[in-house]
Amino acid sequence: MRSTLNALTTELKRLKAAGVKMVPVSDATLAQLRAVVNARGARAAESSQPLEKESAKAPLAPAPPPVSPPIAAAPAYEAPAREFKAKPLVANVAAIPAPQPFVLPEGDKATRWAALRDRVLDDLVCRAHVRPGKQVVFGVGSLEAKIMFVGEAPGAEEEVQGEPFVGPAGQLLTRMIGGMGLKRSDVYIGNIMNWRPEMALDPGGTQYGNRPPTEEEMAYCLPYLKAQIEIVNPALLVALGSTATQGLLGAGSFKTLGEVRGKWKEFSDRPLMVTYHPSYILRNQSNRSKRMIWEDLLKVMERAELPISEKQRGFFLDRA
Ligand code: URA
Repeated sequence: MRSTLNALTTELKRLKAAGVKMVPVSDATLAQLRAVVNARGARAAESSQPLEKESAKAPLAPAPPPVSPPIAAAPAYEAPAREFKAKPLVANVAAIPAPQPFVLPEGDKATRWAALRDRVLDDLVCRAHVRPGKQVVFGVGSLEAKIMFVGEAPGAEEEVQGEPFVGPAGQLLTRMIGGMGLKRSDVYIGNIMNWRPEMALDPGGTQYGNRPPTEEEMAYCLPYLKAQIEIVNPALLVALGSTATQGLLGAGSFKTLGEVRGKWKEFSDRPLMVTYHPSYILRNQSNRSKRMIWEDLLKVMERAELPISEKQRGFFLDRA
């Protein structure tokens, strides 16, 4: 028991050193902690045995929240019946330090990518913003990819699986990539953020809302995305949605996404196509919206010199 308490104290000190000012604890967790402390007090009162001789097997730390099953098996999401307004965790956000410089090892792409991945997954600031049982999320895909897609931040499914774009928007992105005649494993997919921006937990101890990352959060993670671009060296980039575009081009570089969407910009010395986030299509299922994003992807295919069939050129035109 004593060793578990020590481990908990050490973890809290580590989080504090990483700049975390607040650790969200659900009601269920609090109840479990209280039960352990009360049991400990009761046993101490009943027994003259020193507490440190207690079995180390008794779990102090509450079990991590159950990991969601893969999306295919997941039941449809249902909003909690009770009235609950998700709130951003501003105290935690304010504690983001400036990014620390780092040097990648010499070597081939795979060596450098693996070293970068280890660094990001071990980064104390990233880890401090990830809840128990959830994961820091790093990019995936081919290190020889010509095309790199850049999204905003992991969501609920991504932080469980530790992989970008695996939730509903990710499944749509995978279909979009398929429409281009490619497989998901032919491209590289990254996010500006390596963690899911925190919101207050609902009374059941679950975060079900998302919020866009702050400038500070994006500034902290951006060097990691730039390093992935440097290693993979794609011919071109595709920014998905307004937040990713702001993260790459800078806040204030455009007023509405419509101003820049479908246009070639530049980031990290390579062409950047700006388009809508797949979640926009999930919310606007019209063929008009689908055609807009598809036209942007046709431009990407042309620039990447991918073959384009007549059928592909006509996607979402005839059923408008
Ligand atoms: N949205 C994003 O921007 N990135 C993800 O990884 C998932 C959803």
